[in-house]
Amino acid sequence: MIELRNIDYSVGGRSILKDVNLSVGEQDTLAILGASGSGKSTILRIILGLINPDQGEVWVHGKELSRISYEDLVEIRKKMGIVFQEGALFDSLTVGENVGYYYLEHTRQTHAEVAPRVQAMLDTVGLGHTINMMPEELSGGMRRRVAIARALIYHPSCILYDEPTTGLDPMSSKSITDLINRLKHEHRVASVMVTHNLEDALEVADHFIMIQGGGVGWSGTRRQFAGQQKKIMEMFYQ
Ligand SMILES: Nc1ncnc2c1ncn2[C@@H]1O[C@H](COP(=O)(O)OP(=O)(O)OP(=O)(O)O)[C@@H](O)[C@H]1O
Ligand SMILES: [Mg+2]
Repeated sequence: MIELRNIDYSVGGRSILKDVNLSVGEQDTLAILGASGSGKSTILRIILGLINPDQGEVWVHGKELSRISYEDLVEIRKKMGIVFQEGALFDSLTVGENVGYYYLEHTRQTHAEVAPRVQAMLDTVGLGHTINMMPEELSGGMRRRVAIARALIYHPSCILYDEPTTGLDPMSSKSITDLINRLKHEHRVASVMVTHNLEDALEVADHFIMIQGGGVGWSGTRRQFAGQQKKIMEMFYQ
């Protein structure tokens, strides 16, 4: 579904990523771990085609992003949901307007037409009762779940999560990781989760990669990761 091959990326002559390879299959969950500033969010931006690598290939749904038209890129992006760091809701819009934003802003559909889909997405994340509330009335964990509902409205085949549990208390984090797992099993979505949080990654991921020095310092399955966790942590966070 997603494959990065030999990706190099630099900004202003400074190398950010060097020879990064990764792949995510259908209904697969990949955790991307690494220290702050190691390039994790940059990898998500490359997968979305928001930035172009200097070298290498980005394959999404069987297409290589540098060789397709802008229209095709827009279509591919619709199959990918993104949940940004901090949730990134519009504070002046209601929860329902945030979730239905794309349809309300970019199509001629009315509030009444969009509302049932918005309600269904909010129900999926357990927040059906918040449709008319403002984001400021929600807790941090609830805001993240609204951001997930907004990503789900296109029925994506893959969702990219950037630090979905950072800054949340353990209960709220658990509600997010449970939701990520449920979307995988019930909606059959593939997921990429960028995180600092090892416990949360172990809750959801089938595969792990560690970014270090701009490259993939370690990659392996959940079982391999769990078995070597202490050693890997010493290597990367010493
Ligand atoms: N537009 C940009 N211009 C200059 N430098 C950038 C730009 N975007 C990212 N960087 C640099 O690239 C590196 C990787 O940034 P990135 O945001 O991918 O890190 P991260 O692993 O997501 O960090 P965090 O865990 O803090 O979110 C950082 O050193 C950052 O300063
Ligand atoms: Mg980041």
